[in-house]
Amino acid sequence: MGTSLDRMDRRTLVVAIDGPSGSGKSTVARGVAARLGLRYLDTGAMYRAVTWLALDRGVQLDDPAALTTLAEAATLEVTTDPEQPAIVAAGTDVTAAVRGAEVTAAVSQVSAVAGVRDAMVRRQRELIGAGGIVVEGRDIGSTVAPEAAVKVYLDADATTRAQRRTAQDGGAATQAANTEVALRERDAADATRTASPLQKAPDAVVIDSSTMTIDEVVQAVLDRTAAVSA
Ligand code: DC
Repeated sequence: MGTSLDRMDRRTLVVAIDGPSGSGKSTVARGVAARLGLRYLDTGAMYRAVTWLALDRGVQLDDPAALTTLAEAATLEVTTDPEQPAIVAAGTDVTAAVRGAEVTAAVSQVSAVAGVRDAMVRRQRELIGAGGIVVEGRDIGSTVAPEAAVKVYLDADATTRAQRRTAQDGGAATQAANTEVALRERDAADATRTASPLQKAPDAVVIDSSTMTIDEVVQAVLDRTAAVSA
């Protein structure tokens, strides 16, 4: 199905997709970007890359000043192609490594540091530039791009999110209960931190994907985008 977007709109359009882990953000954001011919930015991968660098260099995770210095100085190259998103940290392609268990266990601590967030938000705004992009994260509609024309808060119940995460990681269904515990802990940390917590922007449309297919969610975001561009 087409949308009413013309090329002019696409060049400046920003679609912000926020939500907790396992809500389907990445798949949906990539799908929407591919369908509309837009770039795609995974801001979580940037926090994960800084976390990877901290672990690689032995920077203490309980030292906010050291983590801030690291984040400010880090060379990050982000590929915004929705078909092949990639991230290179200090010359190393960490696209796969940032999905590993070690990084996943440490990233909430790193992303809670205000100085790290300031450094990442600055880079995210540079990458967004004039627009033409779908951006996923936790604080995109509220903090990184409050002017975004389309803001979606994608949610799903915790059990569904844990099942999706387990399947994504290639784990057995029996692991989903453990994943759910870890995921609830990470959500709580992300939602209660003082610096830019996970939050729904007041003007974001909420989509609960618990009982929806990916295609249905992508279509719902496309419909929303067409509506605001009409
Ligand atoms: O979406 P993800 O699981 O890759 O995110 C990794 C971590 O980074 C997660 O703990 C939340 C955090 N994050 C954040 O604080 N702000 C963002 N814009 C994106 C991710």
